[in-house]
Amino acid sequence: MSDLVQLAEENGIAIITINNPPVNALSPGVPEGIAAAIEQMDKDASVKAAVLIGGGKTFVAGADIKEFGKITAGKSGGGLELPTLLLKIEDCRKPVVMAIHGSAFGGGLELAMSGHYRVAVPSAQIGQPEVKLGIIPGAAGTQRLPRLAGAAKAVEMCADGNPIKALDALHAGIMDRLIEGDLLTGAIAFAREIADKPVRKTRERNEKLGSAEENDAIFATARENARKKQRGMAAPLAAIDAVEAATKLPFDEGCKIERKLFMDCLFSDQSKALIHVFFGEREVAKIPDIPKDTAVIPVNSAAVVGAGTMGGGIAMVLANAGVPVLLKEADQAALDKGIANIQKNYATSVKRGRFTQAFVDERLKLIQPTLGYDSFASADLVIEAVFEGMALKKEVFAELDRVCKPGAILASNTSTLNIDEIASSTSRPQAVIGTHFFSPANVMRLLEIVRGKASSKEVIATCMQLSKKIGKIGVLVGNCRGFVGNRMFHPYVRESVFLLEEGASVEAVDSAMYEFGMAMGPLAVGDLAGLDVGWRIRKEYRHLEKPGIRQAFAGDSLCEMGRYGQKTGAGWYKYDENRRALPDPEVTQLVRKWAAEAGIAQRQISREEIVDRCVYALVNEGARILEDGYALRAVDIDIIYLNGYGFPAYRGGPMWYADAVGLKKVFDRVEEFHRRHGELWEPAPLLKRLAEEGKKFADFNKEQSATA
Ligand code: 3HC
Ligand code: NAI
Repeated sequence: MSDLVQLAEENGIAIITINNPPVNALSPGVPEGIAAAIEQMDKDASVKAAVLIGGGKTFVAGADIKEFGKITAGKSGGGLELPTLLLKIEDCRKPVVMAIHGSAFGGGLELAMSGHYRVAVPSAQIGQPEVKLGIIPGAAGTQRLPRLAGAAKAVEMCADGNPIKALDALHAGIMDRLIEGDLLTGAIAFAREIADKPVRKTRERNEKLGSAEENDAIFATARENARKKQRGMAAPLAAIDAVEAATKLPFDEGCKIERKLFMDCLFSDQSKALIHVFFGEREVAKIPDIPKDTAVIPVNSAAVVGAGTMGGGIAMVLANAGVPVLLKEADQAALDKGIANIQKNYATSVKRGRFTQAFVDERLKLIQPTLGYDSFASADLVIEAVFEGMALKKEVFAELDRVCKPGAILASNTSTLNIDEIASSTSRPQAVIGTHFFSPANVMRLLEIVRGKASSKEVIATCMQLSKKIGKIGVLVGNCRGFVGNRMFHPYVRESVFLLEEGASVEAVDSAMYEFGMAMGPLAVGDLAGLDVGWRIRKEYRHLEKPGIRQAFAGDSLCEMGRYGQKTGAGWYKYDENRRALPDPEVTQLVRKWAAEAGIAQRQISREEIVDRCVYALVNEGARILEDGYALRAVDIDIIYLNGYGFPAYRGGPMWYADAVGLKKVFDRVEEFHRRHGELWEPAPLLKRLAEEGKKFADFNKEQSATA
């Protein structure tokens, strides 16, 4: 056979096992191995039926995603095409039972559907997640799935890309039986039951395809949802087209449509960007000087200091992961308010169907309110989330140093302050680290983990591992002002306000960025977060500003009028009682007046300029951060922007986007802005060098590893 696929026999039942760790992807050699096993067992008169199963922790996670880059680069080695293999399995004269545990995703589910029967353990998950990679199922998934589950279920699974559980799959008709206990034993028993039945080919099962009238409404709704929920993405619409083809055309014709759509998507910029994101999300967990086997500190209990906006959310995140957490406040009133907020947030989750009441009751029991540090000695991890102020943070950390046990991790949620200075108030700077959650902490996926100069490898490794356990994506960043995300966000917002002061309208700036794909325009984000936050910081640090450098002032002038954003009912926009943003002509008038007083010439500003100014401001700062080593890789910056700042995943992140545009083009534009707008636009040295050398940000890390 092959190293990747083994064939065995047990009293007339063939057992085909795929062994391609870690996830049994259908890499070159696997389809060939399966085909050989099918041929052999089909010929073997002593065999009545077959079970196909995955070795290790899963069935099959899909096609090998690494191969896609080779195909688009014209370097694919040929080999047996998946659709051909699946026809071969379906045409096998003896029944093939697919036995599923772990996940059957993408090509894995397509493989499973080519079998004549499917059984699964209850914990198994199945799905067609291809749209998350900017592609659609490419091995007849869009054609076989509606034949098993009907058009509505198939279109939902192919267009949303979210997995479903085995029980749901059983109800949908995708699974034939759930196996409690040992999967292989159960699958073999099932195979014996059906061994004498005639084989049934999925591609010939048309009874669930439905009528055109029923389906029209299904597809219309699916398209509407996709345009709303996956705004700007091409693959979900292509997936819907392909499933629709299954309901209107014979199987072979439908497969041709699917193939064409698959190929179009595969060669698209969106797919390249999303595949970069897939590997990027896994890459950020790899820290060059902290090996995978670094010892981690078990986190069985935690404590949070401060039950405000962030502390409350962080306590929920820990409790949701099953970690008991002490929640300390300064006084009873603040503690009551914090706990009430947590209860309110949980109640909303129950109302929205995200959690059950029973789950929430269990989580609430894990959160123990307190006013003192008495029980802190038991905590393995403490996260501080008190007001942003160095003196207060140092006071809290000195106290933590006194009460916490040796080996406990002392983390700060500060968004701007120097972790080393905070650590200096303790006798154990190696235990101190930044864990910068994003608001709302129980929702946002990003966690910037800020490495202080003394943070120990164990502490870093533990926080990185913990991020996964609590459902976050942890990205290690260096200790600079604003760390990575907020440091880049500053010039981004600055440019959005400059554009207003030069003549663009609030709506023009926000809609240009929204259409670029951002979850919200920069000005609407300011209103949501509160314009007063930045205003207060700017007032405090005014003495550090370099004279003669242009400063954005319109936002501060609005604050002086009491317009802080959503919380005061007005900021860049006006807000109605449902917090819906309405354009405010008064703001336009005011900004025009202020600009005239400041002598700023007004002009027509194109959408293209708005996008370039805002996005290249991110890129230029990102280049400095990268060169200075505050982010480990360009992809780390991308992952931060996708998960913390609403940058569109299908553009891959700001650094990937710049690479895709071409750094020479980006550099020329930055130079142009530099000439026009002065010092703030001085090109980052790394951007300049890479542009001149015809390289990408992605090459920077290769250069570094080569010299390491
Ligand atoms: N191809 C190549 N490598 C894959 C892979 C795949 N389909 N799926 C996972 N991997 C790699 C990961 O990159 C990672 O590598 P690393 O250790 O070097 O970083 C390793 O396998 C382990 O993956 P995870 O860290 O993600 O492991 P988890 O246990 O957390 O998750 C999983 C397992 C749920 C299977 C998750 O990996 C996953 O969702 N994989 C992708 C599934 C997918 O998108 N499948 C569709 C592929 S496209 C397709 O099939 C097209 C078809 O229609 C023709
Ligand atoms: P907040 O004002 O909502 O909450 C701070 C809480 O700390 C208050 O409830 C206060 O009573 C409590 N507190 C003060 N001193 C205390 C003490 N000695 N012991 C116990 N509790 C004490 O502030 P928020 O927004 O939650 O911010 C907390 C930290 O998180 C800050 O460092 C902030 O910079 C950071 N952060 C805030 C984000 C946001 O969007 N709000 C995002 C990311 C980080």
